[in-house]
Amino acid sequence: MRFSSLSAATAALILSTQVSAQTYTDCDPREQTGCPADPALGGSAKFDFTTGAQKNWTTSGAVTYSSSTGAGFTVASQGDAPLITSDFYIMWGHLEVVMQSAPGTGIVSSIVMQSDTLDEIDLEFLGGQATSVQTNYFGHGDTSQYNREQTIEMSNNQNSFHTYTVDWTADRIVWQIDGTTVRSMAPADANAGQYPQTPMMIKIGIWAGGDPSNPSGTINWAGGTTDYSKGPFTMYCKSVSVIDYSTGSEYVYTSQSGTSDSISAVGGSVDGNMAATASVATDASAATITSSGGEAPIPWSGTHRETSSWSTPDIWPWVATATASVVNSNPSSGHTTSGSDKLEPLTVYQSKTFFDPDLTFEPQ
Ligand SMILES: *[C@@H]1O[C@H](CO)[C@@H](O)[C@H](O)[C@H]1NC(C)=O
Repeated sequence: MRFSSLSAATAALILSTQVSAQTYTDCDPREQTGCPADPALGGSAKFDFTTGAQKNWTTSGAVTYSSSTGAGFTVASQGDAPLITSDFYIMWGHLEVVMQSAPGTGIVSSIVMQSDTLDEIDLEFLGGQATSVQTNYFGHGDTSQYNREQTIEMSNNQNSFHTYTVDWTADRIVWQIDGTTVRSMAPADANAGQYPQTPMMIKIGIWAGGDPSNPSGTINWAGGTTDYSKGPFTMYCKSVSVIDYSTGSEYVYTSQSGTSDSISAVGGSVDGNMAATASVATDASAATITSSGGEAPIPWSGTHRETSSWSTPDIWPWVATATASVVNSNPSSGHTTSGSDKLEPLTVYQSKTFFDPDLTFEPQ
């Protein structure tokens, strides 16, 4: 069933109850056994969005393409939260995203690496703050402490493209802007048990953290309430380059520990591509960090929430409302809603659309 064919009443219900886009972990290997294996990139790939939509990505919401600015992600009205999610995972690796963030109070442009156990590494750009970017990480979706975020000062990221890099190994996570290391974190520096260490997919998109229906903590974090009449607000992504530092066709969780040593690479090996490890400075002396330990919610993870008090959202998961996605009439992972406003979750996993690519894909 297409979103557009939902009854008006159902559509109204969605619009009134959905807050912002998120995707979710379909099956958390720490909570459940028998989760599907993660398709592995197992090599390196460059995706050039100036040539159009790329295969190996699933689109949620409306993403536009232009030869000059690449993929465009626009929030024009409440519920808009276009997003692309890689169909593949990497187990340690290197990500480079060439993008220009969106303006607009409360608008959040996001680059996120996220695992099925809700390990996460991200960069988030607040539309009200054109000269900074927030870097953050989470382990196992643990949001008991919001003390991992660092805000990095930079030149205007809303009027020009920059290259944002995450280099992620068992030894450290390095964040870079235009080739300069702005943050580096070793496992010992992470909160206990919180170092991201499970296969990650990549999500790039935009959402309105300042939507008036969001929890006030989220709105405050996002920099204030979004005024849609001042929009539309658009972020652009020209390209994404990815190197998987492991090899194989699939990554499998062999236990429920959620630790890297529980990950098995089918037909390859974890760390099998470490020879491709990018040379990155781990010294972040160039960075100007203006805030550290700030509170920031996990993007798209169902945890856009107050840090002081929070109740389970009546919609789980929150999903993009603007997307013409498929209604999952038989949710298998317990992501159903409760209460009288019962609503099936939408999922885009069944609506993968592949386009003619100019994909450079080099399996190792
Ligand atoms: C990329 O997409 C192609 C075409 O659908 C598919 O055959 C291939 O397995 C995908 N590769 C990855 C790494 O997702």
